Formats: sequence, structure tokens, C-alpha cells
Amino acid sequence: MRVPLFVANWKMNKAVAETAEFVTQLSELLVAAPGKLGQDFEVLICPPSTHLSTLAAAVGSRPIEFGSQNCGTAKSGAFTGEISPVVLKELGCGWTLVGHSERRHIYLEDDALVLSRTRAALAEGLKVVLCVGEKLEERRADKTMQVVEAQLSILKGMSASEIERIVVAYEPVWAIGTGENATPEQAEAVHASIRKWYSAQLGNSAAESLRILYGGSVKPENAAQLLREADVDGFLVGGASLDPVVFSNVIKNGLESRAPGV
Ligand code: PGA
Repeated sequence: MRVPLFVANWKMNKAVAETAEFVTQLSELLVAAPGKLGQDFEVLICPPSTHLSTLAAAVGSRPIEFGSQNCGTAKSGAFTGEISPVVLKELGCGWTLVGHSERRHIYLEDDALVLSRTRAALAEGLKVVLCVGEKLEERRADKTMQVVEAQLSILKGMSASEIERIVVAYEPVWAIGTGENATPEQAEAVHASIRKWYSAQLGNSAAESLRILYGGSVKPENAAQLLREADVDGFLVGGASLDPVVFSNVIKNGLESRAPGV
């Protein structure tokens, strides 16, 4: 049984002063969700790294997880502008995103760099959301799985205990921040192929327990249809994660679509 995971990716948005109120409101709103937070579903907030210590204090003992949007490749040293995985742990982070499409395409991070970030994060005990996804021209050229498999191939050779701490987020680049989400059928087709790739490359049990999140213009209006798909195990949400009411509706609508009898 894969516990649904909902990730808020704030990107470079919000003032530090907005952080605590967001956490308070979100926790209150999620009391009405079908299922128990931290048990039946998980929520992970990835704010800008400048907000992490404030977020940690706001979360306190609540069952809300938090993490970074990226992770440095070494513990410490001469790496201007990078974020140490050791300090992420010190701040209480359990997670980091790596390979987000904005990192790959605006900051030209390649698979080799995504791999060293992933390795550094795992070495400090962090869990990793590895983001993959094709550009519009690649989809049009029928190269979606070729691109996604190349991005996944950094996982080959990792140990079972490392693989266990990885979640994959499928985010078609053409759907991110555009308002145009992948259809549930398009998302399911890629998610099922990712699970198949996992099974062939990393074994059946890794494939069965892998959580595959969908990201790209997720909103309250499309959450139910998308989460109803068999291989969609949660969401990575950008724009719709900035407002606690909207984000909680993404979560509630998604979970309701799976509730027994619905
Ligand atoms: P979006 O962003 O929900 O605003 O499309 C998703 C993401 O980039 O993680």
C-alpha cells in the first residue's frame, strides 16, 4: 500500500513572514481531509531554503514534513551559492527535491549533476524526490519515455536502502506553470512505464513500493481525476501550493476520489 504524498513546491515565492501562518492554516484545514495526516497521507513542504528554519519552528511536532528544493553535492567547502545536505539535516529537513525541470532547463543541471546531488543527499540520510519529464518537442517526437528513462538511469547501481528513499515525480515540462495539465491518461501511461522500468532495472519490490508523483498544473479541479489513476501516488504542486486553502483542496479532492464507495 503506497501512502499518497502531496508536495508543496513554493519555488522562489513567499516572504519568510508568511510561513508560520501557512502551516497553521494548512494543519487546521487538513483536519477535514479524508484520512489522517502523517498516516493515511503525507504532506511535504519545500519552501525556499531561506525559509527552512522558520518553517521548522512553525511545524514543531505536527506530522508535516519539510525539505529543500535542491541539495549541494558535498558536505561543505568552496561551493558558493550551494546548500549543504548536512545543514539541511541540522535544520530538521527529511527531504530534498533534485532535478526539478527549472534546475535542469534554466540552470542547465545535467544528469551527472543530478546524480551527485542525489548521492550527497542520500549519504546524509535525506529522502529524495527525483523530478523527471520531457519537453513539448520531445513529446511531439514520441521521445517521452526515452527522455524519462535517461533521467531515471542515474538510479542504476544504487543500493536497495538508497532506492527505498527515492520518490519519482513525473513533471512534463510543457505542463509546469502553464495551466495545461497532462490528461489523466497521459500521466497514467508515463507512470505505468516508469514502474515497468523500475521493475526491469531495480526489481519488482522496488517497483511496487515506488511512489510516483505527478506534477504540472495540478489544481483542485483536476486533482480527483489524476489521483484516481492506479499509478499516480501523489502530486508535486507549484502554483496551487502557495495558498493553504487551494493546496488543502488539492489534497482533499485527490483523497476523496480514492475513498471507499466514491
Ligand atoms: P505548477 O508547478 O504546479 O505551478 O505547474 C509544478 C512544479 O514545477 O513542481
